[in-house]
This record gives sequence, structure tokens and C-alpha cells, in this order.
Amino acid sequence: MTAFTFATAGRIAFGPGRSAELAAAVAALGSRPLVCTGSDPARHAGLIATIGNAATFAVAGEPTLDIVRAGAEAARAHGADVVVGLGGGAVLDAAKIIAALATNGGDPLDYAEVIGRGLPLEVRSLPVVAVPTTAGTGSEVTANGVVTSTEHRVKVSLRSASMLPAVAIVDPELTLACPPAVTAHAGLDALVQCIEPFVSPFANPLTDGFCREGIRRAASGLLRAYAEPGDIEARSDVSLCALLSGLALANGKLGAAHGLAGPLGGQIGAPHGAITAAVMVAVSEHNLAHAGQVALARYTEVGELLTGRSDPRAFLDWWAQAAAELGVPGLASLGLEDADIEPVAEAASRASSTKGNPVPMTTADLAGILRRSL
Ligand SMILES: NC(=O)c1ccc[n+]([C@@H]2O[C@H](COP(=O)([O-])OP(=O)(O)OC[C@H]3O[C@@H](n4cnc5c(N)ncnc54)[C@H](O)[C@@H]3O)[C@@H](O)[C@H]2O)c1
Repeated sequence: MTAFTFATAGRIAFGPGRSAELAAAVAALGSRPLVCTGSDPARHAGLIATIGNAATFAVAGEPTLDIVRAGAEAARAHGADVVVGLGGGAVLDAAKIIAALATNGGDPLDYAEVIGRGLPLEVRSLPVVAVPTTAGTGSEVTANGVVTSTEHRVKVSLRSASMLPAVAIVDPELTLACPPAVTAHAGLDALVQCIEPFVSPFANPLTDGFCREGIRRAASGLLRAYAEPGDIEARSDVSLCALLSGLALANGKLGAAHGLAGPLGGQIGAPHGAITAAVMVAVSEHNLAHAGQVALARYTEVGELLTGRSDPRAFLDWWAQAAAELGVPGLASLGLEDADIEPVAEAASRASSTKGNPVPMTTADLAGILRRSL
């Protein structure tokens, strides 16, 4: 039996309509909430209005170092004692980082991995209530927040067990307004986050269960949610896939698709889900060509969960069809140029996610994957 550790949000509330519980969840944790929203706070104005005594902070786009610095300042100015993240993964990550900076002080670069000093976040974060409005990242149950350094052109994490949200409220109704491209990119990211921990040598019996169910939910819901955005059953399947993917990645390890996504995201600034989806075929082809029996059996099971066919390549067939239906672009149309390939591959070879890949990846392997994903 593989040894494992499991940690997650203090409480997870899942199901259509559950966002009605947000105000009470916030009131139980504090009396001066800072509510982080996306660039358009009007989108959830009704829900925000239910939260008493709130100040709002709009996170426009993916969180940068300057955005989280400003958010921490807004939290201090409001005297915030609880932080709400209401938005896509970008907003949830910003909320978690802001909550950590509000109590620890200092600059995000003091704590950031890779480009920063990597100091531990020693003081407990403000409690966070995480409410995703996309179905993708699972950030509502992970212990890290991703931030972009525009100067270093890379995305890195701040990480601490106390960044796990106190409460995660996953209400698939909040995803009904997601435009098709967001549904596709976020949903494929969730699926990749279920596949990578499942084929990883760091898989454990708990993450395996999350991944299997997450892959099944993606198979039943993702294409339907894209084609029929108002289908709440399909939206619920993808929201559950995303939640399960967060549980899996926070308690297991990802793989080379996510190892590449960090430096690619910093370099080309394209949506995270579009990037992981764009590299997934070439990463999996490489893994299938070099995998041992255990990883091959895992890929076979992924294919079986998605298609019902017991064949290691069934997964790639499903992916090719889904990518065509969902309009997944290649890396060239996402902005990757030839000159970026070597530095991105070099950075990805050092990424912690790459170490979770079922087969070791050299910089040359990663560069080859990037070229095949153009
Ligand atoms: N912390 C983690 O564990 C983790 C894991 C994976 C990814 N991430 C990070 O999450 C981010 C990606 O998150 P994402 O895929 O949710 O995308 P996102 O948060 O960038 O949102 C994508 C777009 O959808 C819009 N949007 C959000 N909710 C909407 C709704 N209900 N209706 C209409 N539009 C809506 C947003 O305004 C944005 O324009 C990246 O920054 C990535 O690095 C974090």
C-alpha cells in the first residue's frame, strides 16, 4: 500500500444553489470581509450584496505581483478578517495569496518559489471562502496560489498548508454564464489535472479514486456543457471533475503538461487551460512511447474511462476528437515562437510538476514536445 497524506479545505459544499450559503459561511469566519472578484464584479453583484460589511477588490486578468500587492494593501486598509474569492481560478489564487500576505506582511517575492526567496509563510493566512465560477482549476481545494511575474515572464506559486481555503462552495449554477472557450479551456485543464496525477508514480489510493471519478465526469459532461451551456447536469459533471482534480493535484503530483504550463504561461500569457490542452497530446505520446507497464496500464484505464475501449491509445483518440470539437488551438496560434522553445523547455525541466511525470523528461524531450505542439 502506498503511503499518503491528505489535506483539503476545512469544509466543501457542492451542488447547484449552494452559493446561497455564502453569506452565512463568511459571517461565521469574520465580520470584515474582502471580496475578490473578476474584472466584472457586476457579474455576481446579487451574491456579493448578500455579504455584510464587504469591501471588494477586482482582479483584472491573471494575478500579477502588483495585483496581489495591491490586494494585500486593500485587505489591510479594510481591516479584513476574512477573504472571499468569487471568480475563476485566477481570482481564487489571488484571494489565497492576498489572505496570506495580509497576515504575513512582506512582499510576494519573499515567499514565491523559483524567482523569489521561497521563505515559508509562517503566520496563518486569513480564512478564505473560495467560490469558483469556472469549472477548471480546483483551486478551491489547493494549498497554493499562482502569480505571474511580468518581469521574469514566468508563473510561480506561493504555497502553504494554511492557504487551503477554510470553506469551498462549488455551485455549478455559477458556471452557467461561462462562454464556450472558457468552458473548453477550464474543463480540459480539470481533465488534465485528473489524468496527470493518475499516471504519475506518486499516485496514491485516495487520489486514484478522485481521478477515476473526475475522468468519468469529464467524459459525460464536458462536450455537453460546451454544446449546451445551460445544461446544469453537464455543468455539474464538469464542476465535480474540477473539484476532484484539485483534490488530486493537492495530494499527489501533476506531470510534464503542467511543468510546461508554468513557463509557457509566463512567456505567452495565453489561458492556462488552453496551454495545458495544447501540449497534452505530445506529452502523452512521449509518455506512451517510453512508459513502463504500470504507466501503460494507467493510460489504458484512462482510455477505458473516457471511451469504454481497453487500449492505451484510446485516450489519444478521444482527445483528438474532443480537441477538434472544442477548438483547442496549437501553441503557435497561442503566441509561442521558435526562439521561446529552448528557454521554456529549460525552465520546464526544473518545474516540480515535471518531476511527477511517469517518465523522466530531459530539456531536449520537452523542447521536442513544444515543437510538436506548435
Ligand atoms: N491554485 C491552483 O491549484 C491552480 C490550478 C490550476 C490553475 N490555476 C490558475 O488558475 C488560473 C486559470 O483559471 P481559470 O481557468 O478558471 O480561468 P480564469 O480565472 O482566468 O477565467 C477565465 C475567464 O473567464 C471569465 N469568467 C470567470 N467566471 C465566469 C463566469 N461565470 N461567466 C463568464 N465569464 C467568467 C474570467 O473573467 C476570465 O476572463 C490560472 O492563473 C492558473 O495559473 C491555479
